[in-house]
Amino acid sequence: MRRFLIAGNWKMNTTRQSGVALAGELAAVAANYDPAVEVLVCPPHPYLIPVAEKLGGSAVQIGAQDCYFQAPGAFTGEVAVEMLKDCGCRYVILGHSERRHVLGETDEIINRKTRAAISGGLHVILCVGELLSERQAGQTEEVLDRQMQGGLSGVTEAEAEHLVIAYEPVWAIGTGVTATPEQAESAHEHLRNWLASRYTPAFSERVRILYGGSVKADNAETLLGQANVDGALVGGASLKASTFVPIIEAACKLSTRT
Ligand code: PGA
Repeated sequence: MRRFLIAGNWKMNTTRQSGVALAGELAAVAANYDPAVEVLVCPPHPYLIPVAEKLGGSAVQIGAQDCYFQAPGAFTGEVAVEMLKDCGCRYVILGHSERRHVLGETDEIINRKTRAAISGGLHVILCVGELLSERQAGQTEEVLDRQMQGGLSGVTEAEAEHLVIAYEPVWAIGTGVTATPEQAESAHEHLRNWLASRYTPAFSERVRILYGGSVKADNAETLLGQANVDGALVGGASLKASTFVPIIEAACKLSTRT
């Protein structure tokens, strides 16, 4: 059985003080949900170290929101995989829609980052998802296939063991509009089938596929209750313990189902 992963993507939010305080609140409650649910927070780069220090020894994992694909060297402003590991990161989010659509990242760049992160020892949360116009034009599956193909080019099954997929329809991110459970399940099932044919069916059954896009306490249980939804990548609602913890609780409740 796949273990739920509830990941908080803080994006370009929090201060050092508020981030550390939030980490402290999560560390205090996470022990109650471990090992049923894996909890992860992804703070902005400057706060990785103080947040990791606050989380030290707790059940909450830490990850980064991006990385560069080159080894340390003359790449002004970028952050290398080994630096993230040095700060305590276990995960890195790659291919987030804001990096694709605001910062202009291509599938080729995302692929280089994915391969560098996995070979450097990080787990990758690879985000894929369609724009509203693409969904309306009936191109959702085609877009997902293209992003999966591009992002995972040259990634072997052994390497892909370090992979989590996040389905994040762009029209649902930060908009308050959530995909219906049926829309999410249909995309997740499609992604799992893609993984089965690109790798093997047995492998595809092990890969966790998270849903992201306006996940909140009141919709978490229905979304997480779908057969192919193995967790959530949460933006806005991850910025306060009072809105993030109920999502962890929903996963915990479902994970004890028989
Ligand atoms: P949201 O963001 O929960 O604020 O919609 C999700 C994400 O972008 O990862």
